Amino acid sequence: MIINIKINGMDKQLQVEPQEYLLETLRANGYLSVKRGCDTGSCGACTVILDGKPIPSCAWLSVRAHGHEVITIEGVQKEAEEIGKFLSSEGVEQCGYCSPSFVLTILSMKKELENPTEDDIRHYLVGNLCRCSGYVGHTRAIKKYLGVK
Ligand code: FES
Ligand code: FES
Repeated sequence: MIINIKINGMDKQLQVEPQEYLLETLRANGYLSVKRGCDTGSCGACTVILDGKPIPSCAWLSVRAHGHEVITIEGVQKEAEEIGKFLSSEGVEQCGYCSPSFVLTILSMKKELENPTEDDIRHYLVGNLCRCSGYVGHTRAIKKYLGVK
């Protein structure tokens, strides 16, 4: 079946199988920043932004994305570079496997949360796991990026 989907601002028509997940569809179409981790909706490595909200693409059937807008890191390179500088300056960029998902989640957070507290930030990150670091550096970097105390 064919779905109509906007990816990074471009209208696309993609051939998908009824049982196919968005993670597979995106990677098959060249969006290789979208990483496969647990494949069970638990680790957040496959996060993309769908209509402004971060979602685990491994747990989202591609047919459910029909008529919706998806953003991957390929579509927000300038913002990713800026966020990456904050993350690396706090020492949280290690293997980097989780980085695209964190960047997209932080971008959504910026749009959604006004003046978040540290608890708000931690709560927002609950779906994103990083196996290399604790989350203290992430929290520090995000507070600096968002300009909150
Ligand atoms: S790969 Fe999708 S949440 Fe882990
Ligand atoms: S930096 Fe390695 S999983 Fe996060």
